[in-house]
Amino acid sequence: MERKRIIVGVAGGIAAYKAATVVRQLTEAGHSVRVVPTESALKFVGAATFEALSGNPVHTGVFDDVHEVPHVRIGQAADLVVVAPATADLLARAAGGRADDLLTATLLTARCPVLYAPAMHTEMWLHPATSENVATLRRRGSVVMEPASGRLTGADTGPGRLPEAEEISTLAQLLLARGDALPYDLAGVKVLVTAGGTREPIDPVRFIGNRSSGKQGYAMARVMAQRGADVTLIAGNTAGLVDPAAVHVVHVGSAAQLHDAVSKHAPDANVLVMAAAVADFRPAHAATSKIKKGPAGQGEPTIELVRNDDVLAGAVRSRSDGQLPNMKAIVGFAAETGDANGDVLFHARAKLKRKGCDLLVVNAVGENRAFEVDHNDGWLLSSDGNESALEHGSKTVIASRIVDAIVGFLRTSAG
Ligand code: CTP
Repeated sequence: MERKRIIVGVAGGIAAYKAATVVRQLTEAGHSVRVVPTESALKFVGAATFEALSGNPVHTGVFDDVHEVPHVRIGQAADLVVVAPATADLLARAAGGRADDLLTATLLTARCPVLYAPAMHTEMWLHPATSENVATLRRRGSVVMEPASGRLTGADTGPGRLPEAEEISTLAQLLLARGDALPYDLAGVKVLVTAGGTREPIDPVRFIGNRSSGKQGYAMARVMAQRGADVTLIAGNTAGLVDPAAVHVVHVGSAAQLHDAVSKHAPDANVLVMAAAVADFRPAHAATSKIKKGPAGQGEPTIELVRNDDVLAGAVRSRSDGQLPNMKAIVGFAAETGDANGDVLFHARAKLKRKGCDLLVVNAVGENRAFEVDHNDGWLLSSDGNESALEHGSKTVIASRIVDAIVGFLRTSAG
């Protein structure tokens, strides 16, 4: 991605120290970053930290370097403004259109996408004043992230934690790639996402697994949650990924456990996204104690495999049988290599028919493609015969295009 001008606004909350990581991640991604803290943010982190990390001067007021008219210029020239943390007070001032310091003046003059990452105590986040300010900012096109739940300052826990720095910078880069805001168009929609690979036990220490990292499914869950959906993520084995903020995560091991979790949550869901790499077969018998190799010459063990249920096809069947009346869209994923019988798309079209899902995301897999990497490409096939290419991009950018298609599908099928 070309070098963009990003303003990182920092408001005065204890999470201000995490802004340093956001600044670092965005500069490491090759962007030019300027930090605009509030006066109170500097009570938590010194200007020197932000100056050193960004390589740019740090001011809080509109009367520094007045000849450069910074209260107007900084916002006008920005490609993206990220406010992390955004405190209750900052959100209120932004929603009210105040311009009483350099950060709020910048927010008022910026015409680029704006991303707020809130952090505050649960009571403040849940207060109707804050909810209304957030709704106002979203209505005007800004992206206000859902905060994470968990440990807050002191002994409190609840929603209000700053989302992980990685999540903020990932979303920031998504906004730069999209060039427009992320619409808040999935409020009230319940989504069930599966991600990662399953592990089929052979004995207590060994399993049959696969190379899925879970990154694409996690990106789907993250983007849908930030578009307002109520997301449950059923996660198999993943490469140590950060749980997305504001997503209910259920960890599972085997295909059978994943199947049980999907069966439990599917009746509530409006959308099912099957991004998990579910094992097609499992050992017929998982040994209860470790299988010993024994002395040489005594033969090699054979693992007998039996077929796992197809979770996706099962969900499609249940919906046709009228058992999932809330389910509006079922999305499958296909990893294909192509072979002597046909190319990737040939196999994908056959799979879409066989599985009966509404949309199928298709990735060509192979050495350094799709698995364990941060970028992806492929095709999106729809049951009405539409086919579109998913151009190469980060898994978050790909996720946001797939979510655009899901939203389109929900709109069309709603009539
Ligand atoms: N899937 C599933 N249950 C399984 C296997 C796969 O729900 N037991 C889902 C995956 O989550 C994915 C889709 O089916 O959304 C396609 O997975 P894939 O492995 O490509 O398809 P298979 O049906 O296993 O076909 P094949 O291995 O023959 O390509």
